[in-house]
Amino acid sequence: MPPPTTTLTTTLIVATTPPPLLGIGKNLTLPWPRLPSEMSYFSRVTKRSPPNTHNAVIMGRKTWDSIPANFRPLPSRINVVISQTARDNTVYMNALAASSSSPLPKVKDHDNSNELEETQESQKQKNFDPTTRELWSTSLSSSISLLSNLSNTHNVPINKIFIIGGSTIYKEALNLSVGSPGYVDTILHTVVSEPEFDCDTFFPKGVLGAESGSDEEGKWVKGDVDELVSFTGEERSKVEGIKEEKGIKFEFGIWRR
Ligand SMILES: NC(=O)c1ccc[n+]([C@@H]2O[C@H](COP(=O)([O-])OP(=O)(O)OC[C@H]3O[C@@H](n4cnc5c(N)ncnc54)[C@H](OP(=O)(O)O)[C@@H]3O)[C@@H](O)[C@H]2O)c1
Repeated sequence: MPPPTTTLTTTLIVATTPPPLLGIGKNLTLPWPRLPSEMSYFSRVTKRSPPNTHNAVIMGRKTWDSIPANFRPLPSRINVVISQTARDNTVYMNALAASSSSPLPKVKDHDNSNELEETQESQKQKNFDPTTRELWSTSLSSSISLLSNLSNTHNVPINKIFIIGGSTIYKEALNLSVGSPGYVDTILHTVVSEPEFDCDTFFPKGVLGAESGSDEEGKWVKGDVDELVSFTGEERSKVEGIKEEKGIKFEFGIWRR
């Protein structure tokens, strides 16, 4: 079993219109039509983790709501949703605790349906998969603590934590100072370059774009395709160059600091 995560840095993943506008949303959905290859890139990259570890995705409540009900929680990842309205995580945490501590069900020497039901229930708890329901949190910092707690106390090793939007959560995450839990050190940025799309929600200004690119301490620096391949584990051909789907052009990229 790999050791639990100790460095709680995060990766932000976002698709935007080109700088300087950096639009990310329109009417609580994406500004552009569904781009299957961009969506499968998001899915592969946010899922990819070593055996016996999980990645986590943290999102705002509106982004959660924008995911069709039958596609959430996003599968094979631990989903944390942030909302000012506190919601109960007791069922999740109890199932997790039971799963990590429950003894093997007793073998019965006679038939009894109640006992069988109990056995099935304890098996279900024992096999609780922490990616099958979402966790709720009332702030970004408590989301990070929650994940740290899963890793350290409940034996759910977390590999990478992705901040997946929307704009309020991106802004808050980018304001975390170096050394604080959740500090964002990597941005996976897809630029949807053509055609133009009308947007009502935007990525924070002053991070990605012409004003970045210096290697001054704390400044965002654009990485090359080798860095993108190495960080994401993607095949080079899948992430190199300008892609086109449904007449829409887009390009994958990475920024580090
Ligand atoms: N292009 C992309 O890569 C991308 C990625 C993600 C989302 N999007 C788009 O972005 C839009 C949604 O973004 P958004 O900025 O409007 O919403 P959002 O960040 O997804 O969610 C905002 C909500 O999160 C909760 N929240 C935010 N900060 C909080 C805090 N500090 N403490 C407690 N709760 C907090 C609040 O929920 P309550 O109201 O429940 O309190 C708030 O209303 C959609 O159009 C979506 O499609 C685009």
